[in-house]
Parts: sequence; structure tokens; C-alpha cells
Amino acid sequence: MIRGNTEVYGIIGFPVSHSLSPVFQNSAFKYLGLDAVYVPFEVRPEELEGALRGLKSLNIKGINVTIPHKERSLELADWVSEEAKLIGATNTLKFTDRIEAYNTDWVGFKRSLEELTVLEGKKALLLGAGGSSRAVAYALKNSGVKTFIWNRTQSKAERLAEEFGLESVSSPEKVVAEVDIVVNTTSVGLKENDGELFDYSLIGENHTVVDIIYRDTPLVKRARKVGAKAVNGFPMLLYQGVESFKIWTGCEPSVKFLKKVLEPFGYPQTC
Ligand code: ATR
Repeated sequence: MIRGNTEVYGIIGFPVSHSLSPVFQNSAFKYLGLDAVYVPFEVRPEELEGALRGLKSLNIKGINVTIPHKERSLELADWVSEEAKLIGATNTLKFTDRIEAYNTDWVGFKRSLEELTVLEGKKALLLGAGGSSRAVAYALKNSGVKTFIWNRTQSKAERLAEEFGLESVSSPEKVVAEVDIVVNTTSVGLKENDGELFDYSLIGENHTVVDIIYRDTPLVKRARKVGAKAVNGFPMLLYQGVESFKIWTGCEPSVKFLKKVLEPFGYPQTC
């Protein structure tokens, strides 16, 4: 029940209607018995500055930030965490007497990868050098994983390589046999009839594959078929939300419970 002192949280994006964050964030509040609610706010890019000021004035406690607001929100914040600064984007704002910007996408990715494999001493191939690859590059770097990066537009891969201490390669095929982990951050695989980014028959059972797209892509399916460990972007979505929740409330919600909540929405089945 919403009362006079119920705390309000939310997510801003454009569009935002597809977001599953309200589903599991509200479940987390309920599970922990916190008097709080989480709502979606559709905010047009040209309204962002006013919206952030308004949210703070309305005493909203915190929000997630999704596409296309992640970079601009960072510039509008009064304080930015070290990680968000290095990644160049924020997905979590906390409103106190100021607007604080954090990034939990990288931890979300790291936790989802750690569910599959130990990261220490591993080598990775990062596919893509767009906005979302920055959090992944930071996470891999932070975990001590030696990372090769490939992007269709090579100059962008080279820029990221320099920034995050990675090695840029001119084709995925050059290194796929020597890496343990393959991560796709490109939009290839969003559509079922998208082609392959490289020859997927080079994926073997010893690879660990993560695609940050929310459902199983041809890359993930192929990896599973040959017995490799593979996961789509759903666990990353859940874990970034769990980390945001911790920043806002100081409480850690039950991941096991939230996975069950998300199963009807396509979360990979767990036992
Ligand atoms: P996001 O914020 O989701 O990362 P983005 O910044 O537009 O989105 O990045 C999209 C990524 O997908 C880029 O790495 C892009 O490669 P380019 O930098 O060469 O554009 C990659 N991408 C999109 N379509 C692709 C395709 N058909 N083949 C290979 N890479 C593709």
C-alpha cells in the first residue's frame, strides 16, 4: 500500500515501457518489507535536465538511467563516482542534497560472468566498441583479464584499447582460439536473421560466452550447442539492479528470489 511516507524510486529512459526493472525492483522492496515503490518515467532527451531537477525537487530517492540518458546524466550530476567517470556513463542516480551518479553496469556484468567462470588469469575477446562495451571493458580490466577488442570500425576499438589498456585486433578469428571468454556487446544478434560476427564454429566447449543482449542470440545458442558455458544479458540486467538497490538502500536483496520473479519474463531457469 502506498502511504504518505512511501519512498519513490524509478527509471528514466526513452523509451522505457519495455523495462523489466520495475518488476524486480518492486519485488525486492516487497521482499525486504521496505516502504518504497519503483516507477517508470519516460523522459525525452530534450527534457532530461528539467526531469532530473524535478525528480530531486520531488524528493525521489533514486533512479536507474537507461538509453539514451546514460552519458548526459553524468554531466548533469553534482558528484560522480570514480567508476562512472572512467566508464563515461551512469545507470544509477541517488538523490540526497545533491545528485550522485554511479555506474553498476560493470559490476552487473562482472557478477554475471563470475557465475560462469573464475576470472583470474583468463583472456577475453570483447566484440564491439559502442556505449555498452565501455562498462564491460572496465569490468574485464578491473578483474585482471587480458582483453583483446575487436570492432567493425577499427578506430573505435583502438581508442577503447588505449583508454582501458586492452589490445585491439583486426579480426576476431585471430585470437578466438587463444581466449577463454568471448563477450558480444554489438547489436548483432538482436534480430534472429542477423548474420555471424565471425565464424562461430570456432567457439569450442572450453569457451565462456556472454552476450549482453537480453535473450539467447545465435552466438549464445551456438556456444551452448558445443557444450560451452554461455549466458545472455539477463543476469547482467538483474545484477546491475541489485547493485543499484544496494546503493540506494544499503540492503542486499535475495538474488535467488529475484531470479524466480524474472523467470516468467525469460530469465534463464535456475534450480
Ligand atoms: P550501444 O550503446 O548499445 O553499445 P552503440 O554505441 O550504437 O550501441 O554501439 C553499437 C555497437 O554494435 C558498435 O560496436 C557497432 O560497431 P561500429 O562501431 O562499427 O558501428 C556494432 N555494430 C552494429 N551493427 C553491426 C554490424 N552489422 N556488424 C558489426 N558490428 C555492428
